[in-house]
Amino acid sequence: MNIQAPRGTRDLEGDLIARFQRLESVARRLFAVYGYEEIRTPMFEADELFTRSVGEVTDIVSKEMYAFTDRKGRKLALRPEGTASVARAFIEHGWASRGRTKLWYAGPMFRYERPQGGRYRQFFQVGVELLGVGTAAADLETIDLAARLLEELGIPARLRLNHLGCGECKSAYGAAVQAFFAARQEALCPDCRDRLRKNPLRVLDCKVETCRAAATGAPAIALCATCAAAETAVTAGLAQFGLEYDVDRRLVRGLDYYTGVVYEMTSAALGAQDAVLGGGRYDNLIEELGGPKTPAVGFAAGLDRLAQLLPETAAPAARRPWFYVIGLGAETQAPAAATTRLLRRVAISRGREEWVEADLQARSLKASLRRADKLAAEYAIIIGENEVVSGAATLRAMRTGAQAPLAILGRSPEEAAAAIETACGKLAAERV
Ligand code: HAM
Repeated sequence: MNIQAPRGTRDLEGDLIARFQRLESVARRLFAVYGYEEIRTPMFEADELFTRSVGEVTDIVSKEMYAFTDRKGRKLALRPEGTASVARAFIEHGWASRGRTKLWYAGPMFRYERPQGGRYRQFFQVGVELLGVGTAAADLETIDLAARLLEELGIPARLRLNHLGCGECKSAYGAAVQAFFAARQEALCPDCRDRLRKNPLRVLDCKVETCRAAATGAPAIALCATCAAAETAVTAGLAQFGLEYDVDRRLVRGLDYYTGVVYEMTSAALGAQDAVLGGGRYDNLIEELGGPKTPAVGFAAGLDRLAQLLPETAAPAARRPWFYVIGLGAETQAPAAATTRLLRRVAISRGREEWVEADLQARSLKASLRRADKLAAEYAIIIGENEVVSGAATLRAMRTGAQAPLAILGRSPEEAAAAIETACGKLAAERV
């Protein structure tokens, strides 16, 4: 049997890779404008990093982690997300002394989930983390960046917001949720009965239908005065930005490290997996991992889902060659290859990504031109034996069929660039 890509993974190619490239380039540009620097962390880390940050009782760690032991018995895991790795790097490199650290990352994440539309076992995220600042202004900066990203991409999405409180509010809330579900244990799935003991908030994000039904009427979090003021500072900022949002008191996010503001952006155009982006504040994580107390906030967006939503017009147009070089007959192969090489140097020195393609196949002129046409090349460069003797190739504008000599064989890139300018200009003038 032929070997196939593992379940829940796929090859990104063709239109899909063009979409990913577009997403990444827009994200990269925005992250630079907002002052974030790139970090590339390892794709696998100590298993314990995720157990201690994302949380032992979360689905991500308890059910979905690709954990393994290496040849020396080290317990490792493929990263299910990026925040824990950034926190680990922050502590490892002693970045607390820098005051503030603003980082972005992009790359594959791994979760052993049941694959379905928009849900993969290897999926891609871009994310940002702002470490060392605990203000509402920092929360607002990341939310604004998240919203701007979707706007630049032309993807409408709804912002949902909640506040999980400080450590105290959150644990009081956990106790209230525990008391609420204690009376409804029969309705809960076996996992949730376990969660209820160990980590009651996780019952609120269980996807099982009976658990969702049992959660109707669950208490909303009661925020202390400081947390309430922190939330108001964020919502006031959003109002000033003109960003619409819904407060969703049921939004608890599936990772344990959150404290304070949490948010998600969802798209109505997606099915059950409607979250395109999620994030929030995690002021205790660095300390819990052994670093100095460091407030932090960030988000990550799912590229697989964004790629699905990217409007047709925003996807990059298919690339077409600038030149398609055709050598006619065996004797022209070397000069044709040298000319292709020369044209590529010209393209590179022009600082653009113009594509220069060679026929490579020594077939008939007709077949080669058909291929040039199929690729929608702008020009064909034809080199037959006469051209080799004269030193001038034949330049053909593919759209009109107009031809002109182009004296570039054996020339320097500068001379070739000048000759191309003149000959292409001449063909363009003939067209009018
Ligand atoms: P998350 O909500 O687990 O947050 O993931 C963020 C986004 O990744 C989701 O909104 C979704 O678009 C995408 N995603 C998650 N799982 C899958 C999957 N199996 N297939 C396809 N896409 C998926 C985090 O990962 C946090 N680290 C975000 C964060 C950064 N919080 C603070 N800083």
